[in-house]
Amino acid sequence: MSNLDKHLNIDDLRIAAKRRAHRMVFDYIDGGADDEITLGRNTTAFDDYDLMFKVLAGADNIDMSTTLLGEKIDVPFFASPAAGHRLFHTDGERGVAKAADKTGTVFSLSTLSSVSIEEIAALTSGPKWFQLYVWKDRGLVKEMMDRAREAGYKALILTVDFPIAGNRERDPRNGFSIPPKLGIKQAWHALMAPAWSLDYVIRPSVKYANLSEDTAAVSLQDFVYEQFDAGFNWRDAEWLLGEWNGPAVIKGVVRPDDARQAVDLGFDAVMVSNHGGRQLDRSPAPVHVLESIVDAIGADAEVILDGGVRRGTDILIALALGAKAVGFARPFLYGLAAAGEAGANRAMHILTNELRRDMVLLGIDRIGNVNRSLVERRTER
Ligand code: FNR
Ligand code: LAC
Repeated sequence: MSNLDKHLNIDDLRIAAKRRAHRMVFDYIDGGADDEITLGRNTTAFDDYDLMFKVLAGADNIDMSTTLLGEKIDVPFFASPAAGHRLFHTDGERGVAKAADKTGTVFSLSTLSSVSIEEIAALTSGPKWFQLYVWKDRGLVKEMMDRAREAGYKALILTVDFPIAGNRERDPRNGFSIPPKLGIKQAWHALMAPAWSLDYVIRPSVKYANLSEDTAAVSLQDFVYEQFDAGFNWRDAEWLLGEWNGPAVIKGVVRPDDARQAVDLGFDAVMVSNHGGRQLDRSPAPVHVLESIVDAIGADAEVILDGGVRRGTDILIALALGAKAVGFARPFLYGLAAAGEAGANRAMHILTNELRRDMVLLGIDRIGNVNRSLVERRTER
């Protein structure tokens, strides 16, 4: 048994990440906005559903593959975008992109990645999507889209639930900034995370790799307030779709009317998401609003659920409610923070294995056969 094999589920990887990573880094990954109500509910909301398994279905030859925006993927899940992976482990985005490629699925690169658009494009042959935040500097927006297109990213994800950063109170308490500054408190915490600290000091410094200039060490909130356009609206989104002129995903929608408007504007997929509970606390869990969004857009676009997925059964519930696939971030970020690329692989492996086992138990051998009859919302609560 390798050391990583003892981590049997995503929560085990979370505990391992907490043990290895600097406190400010772990809390940046793990935390959410305000009272973290939405953060918690994203996962516990899956408890409101029962999987109605079929018997004697003879489902032993499991095929987990599906398509997403026309791309064949081996599993109905993919890596959602997340900022600055090299803060968590030196393998950074390289490690997660390789893990996604090995799993046979999409890797999404954040605007705020710590490895560049071009380097990640050249690293694997697997499908990649580029996630965009809207800079006040529209020249920079266009430049980033051009670079992503040129480098071969298949789709653009426009994240729309992030006009400003949410109120994550763990971050200022820890004095967290990007790049990190080591004051007395942070240095003390660094001593308690020797493996992370050694890794951090001997490797090239972590920065936003898609920007040409180094940025000062400021909180994410200040950085976003300075740089991003909080006034970005539907008209601007239309402009952006025209500039990109390719497959586009809107990420961070919880209302059926917004989802409908996005599809009418030309988005090819809607990611039902609240940014993993990191933005507006008390926004609904994605799984609770999924069905109404699926109903609102019908077959006009693909629906992806993102947020709170920690088990193979969560994936099946989302698919049964009408999602084409799910995205997640913390599962592989915990793996990365715990053990680099091998940890990210472990996270993907755990969820792939759980899903395969759960499909046999559910009596379903093909993703295309997962349907609404397999899930029931619990009534007694
Ligand atoms: C994120 N997320 C995110 N989303 C995005 O569009 N651009 C980004 O740069 C980031 N950065 C980021 C950093 C970290 C540390 C986390 C945990 C998340 C949100 C992410 O794509 C996704 O929506 C949520 O994380 C989904 O919830 P789970 O799977 O983490 O529960
Ligand atoms: C976050 C941003 C960067 O959630 O998306 O931290």
